[in-house]
Amino acid sequence: MCIESNEIDYSQFDFLNQKQIDIIIIYLEHLRRHDKGNTFNHSYSVMNIAVQLGELLGIAGTNLAHLRLAALLHDIGKISIDEEILLKPNALTNMEWLIMRSHPPVGAMILMCQDFPDDIINGISQHQEKWDGTGYPNNLVGNGIFSYAQIIKIADSYQVMRTTSRPYQKDYRPLSPNEAEDELRKCSGKDFNPAIVNVFSANHYLFLPYILTPLPPVPMPAAAA
Ligand SMILES: [Fe+2]
Repeated sequence: MCIESNEIDYSQFDFLNQKQIDIIIIYLEHLRRHDKGNTFNHSYSVMNIAVQLGELLGIAGTNLAHLRLAALLHDIGKISIDEEILLKPNALTNMEWLIMRSHPPVGAMILMCQDFPDDIINGISQHQEKWDGTGYPNNLVGNGIFSYAQIIKIADSYQVMRTTSRPYQKDYRPLSPNEAEDELRKCSGKDFNPAIVNVFSANHYLFLPYILTPLPPVPMPAAAA
């Protein structure tokens, strides 16, 4: 895996059939060009953080490969959300938040149509659920939330706190590694599984290389004359 270049090594997903590989290549290339590459770059970092955290939790082999893909695709549903919303510099309206909150089920639906493994679909559809039951879309509680989604939730939150790539986050500013770790601890038992936060915290230095400076957007091909 190449941390610096955001290139994806699709051979890591050899549990998929060729049609499924083709589908994710198409969707990820689309995502790379959507919202100036913000969601793609975010997803790539979240994948690396989630895999590191998964390894610390003892996940290995095909299970780790499934977690890797679920983390990489966790925001794939944002392809359906207008770039004006994803790149909006101010706070979102209620309606815009409603649209934003559609992305976990939309992402899951995309993969469900292509018979992706259930654990990947659950990792995507549940990654905005919170440990105390106040998340979305289904207010799942505690270990009722699929384990991969619990891991992705922490990786997702840490990446967002450490970067400036999410303009729709009201009053958002990037946090230092220590500030971000403090925030994870503060939200332990509310947003996150406390046991996983403890593992993250005890090894927080391992996650420092995975926060990428967003790369410049890929230019769109010139329109035919
Ligand atoms: Fe995300």
